Amino acid sequence: MKKVVLWCGAVFCAAFIGAVIYAGESHEYTPALEKRVQDTLSQMTLNEKLAQTAGKEPVWKLLRGLTNNGDETWDGPGIKRLGVPQFFMIDGPRGVGLAKTTAFTVGMSRGASWDKDLEYRIGEAMGYEARALGANVLLAPCINILRHPSWGRAQETYGEDPYHLGVMGSAFVVGVQQHVMACAKHYAANNTEGNRFTVDVKMDERTLREIYTPHFKMTVDAGVASIMSAYNYFDGDKAGQNHHLITDVLKNDFGFKGFVVSDWVNATNNTIKAANGGMDVEMPSGAHLGMSLKRAIKSGKVPMSRLDDMVARILREKFRFITPDFQAGYDKGKVAGTEHTALAREAAQKGTVLLKNDNNALPIDKSRVKTIAVFGKLASAKNIGDRGSSDVHSPYIVTPLQGISDKVGKDVMVVYNQGLNPGEAKDAAKNADAAIIVVGMTYKDEGEGGYGLGDRLELGLHKDEVQLIKDVCSVNSRCIVIMEGGAAITVSEWKDLPEAMLMAWYPGMEGGNALADIIFGDVNPSGKLPVTFHKNADQLPHFGNKDKVLKTDYYHGYRLFDKKGLDPEYPFGFGLSYTTYKYSGLKLDKKSVGKSGKVIAGVDVANTGKVAGEEVVELYVGYKGSKVDRPVKELKGFTKVALKPGETKTVSLEVKPENLAYWDVDKNGWVIEEIEYVVYAGPCSSAKDLLSDSFKVSGL
Ligand code: GLC
Repeated sequence: MKKVVLWCGAVFCAAFIGAVIYAGESHEYTPALEKRVQDTLSQMTLNEKLAQTAGKEPVWKLLRGLTNNGDETWDGPGIKRLGVPQFFMIDGPRGVGLAKTTAFTVGMSRGASWDKDLEYRIGEAMGYEARALGANVLLAPCINILRHPSWGRAQETYGEDPYHLGVMGSAFVVGVQQHVMACAKHYAANNTEGNRFTVDVKMDERTLREIYTPHFKMTVDAGVASIMSAYNYFDGDKAGQNHHLITDVLKNDFGFKGFVVSDWVNATNNTIKAANGGMDVEMPSGAHLGMSLKRAIKSGKVPMSRLDDMVARILREKFRFITPDFQAGYDKGKVAGTEHTALAREAAQKGTVLLKNDNNALPIDKSRVKTIAVFGKLASAKNIGDRGSSDVHSPYIVTPLQGISDKVGKDVMVVYNQGLNPGEAKDAAKNADAAIIVVGMTYKDEGEGGYGLGDRLELGLHKDEVQLIKDVCSVNSRCIVIMEGGAAITVSEWKDLPEAMLMAWYPGMEGGNALADIIFGDVNPSGKLPVTFHKNADQLPHFGNKDKVLKTDYYHGYRLFDKKGLDPEYPFGFGLSYTTYKYSGLKLDKKSVGKSGKVIAGVDVANTGKVAGEEVVELYVGYKGSKVDRPVKELKGFTKVALKPGETKTVSLEVKPENLAYWDVDKNGWVIEEIEYVVYAGPCSSAKDLLSDSFKVSGL
């Protein structure tokens, strides 16, 4: 049995890769950097300082931005005489919102890849394209917790779990920041669109610390240059004006040295609260900060020391990242070039999740079929996601139909039927060797509020799509359903009808090719769900997109399902493969550890099938005898391992007691309990698949 030991402390990997791979510029916080910041600050006039704290965009540009014609960066002023560069900011999480750039898969799809190295490469590619096109801040990643699949912007984030979000978001940050500043958003608890400007989100301190902010801290630890404050209120104040959230937690406790930038326009409403709360830059213009801050400074209501801190934070990141002749050596030909579009295809391959595959309906051997029938409006739609701020205009988009047709060439007849006429659909289906039905959501069903519908009205497929599945499956015994969308879709009504199901999310400009790679077996799917798929809406927490006050509980997603003993449709971390894997020999390198120590969990993973594949190995931890209520188990490690048929590898993942603490509201601090911790390792969060062992924590 060939054993290779794979070891990875998640965030370390991303930061290490970042430091080594791009040997170009150093973006470190150094004494020389700090000296330049202070020297520059000491030469600035009051007006120059004030101007730094806001964007310099005319309001009309907002309208163009809203209609998505905003093919320009959002700018902030520089100071020529002092060598202070301008800000040139641009969205977003799935690609650079300028010109014709690479449209990657959405964040949720990359979340489904569980591949932090891939996410680093995607970040690096986006950072390169942003810089080549003249931007120096990329307004991404979006790392909001997905607490309910109805959230219109679910597609932009990576999933429901803070640790998973933090690992993926940090990898992206380190990648982007090889070239430009990244901006982790939206801090914090932005989880609905319908009331995003007005809702007052309330939660207890433990929920804030353990669920809604740890992933932001992981991006801070990865060196993120900026954090964008959310539109919503948080405990009575606009999130970006909430001193506890911004100054106590983010800046003091997390040690964030960069700048807090407001979300656009509606994220500030009070000059003194914004400045004293901890906001540093108001975008896209200075309605409350910038020159609007002057009176508050003159009156002393905002101390000069706070203005100096705002400006120091801005200068520190500008000097850390923006070098003279910033675009020198950056080749615009690489923007949406072959290297990046190939990466987009790899992202779509690795983000697609195989949910069902009865009788090996997939992969299809194209040498053994004559006719394939493809159904559904989305099969021929360029469906890459929301038309809001995260939109990307790529030079082309490969639809599923095009990808399938290109793959099979002239040897196989591909019949396309939109599914508008049941009779015709049945006729097309019954004469085909296989039927592929593409269904799901579009930007009309979910997206950023203000640009379109916003939050989803339905959790299931459109009625006509369900009927199409029923019609086609009634006359063809080899049906494959491909779903597109940004979060879980209710499938209970029809999921027993097709033989195979794939969740493709919004698969980007190369999605059609990637889906064809999987359908015809050129790629073995390895994606796993970064969100729980519910059976019915009753299993979900209150969504609250019409609430004035949204009380947000500690539990959602797999934590909620575990706690309530609910049975999901598909569990968090679930995904099938064309091969099979066997887990065995879970071993901990110690059965007792001090609070400052670490335990290495080793598990053997064997490829017991006939094709090579990549397997996401997941590690969860449960708490035995805790004195407080705690989740049944929580994700605390994961990695991806490539295995050839018959190959076995030992995967090692570290568990540190410091990452198992709970927030003690009485002590107002983290507590590491001296109890027994159960380590679970396996292919997904559902208990029947998991191996377990345990260790005790005692002493320091
Ligand atoms: C928005 C979004 C934010 C985006 C910003 C700039 O309203 O909430 O994610 O970065 O505006 O487009």
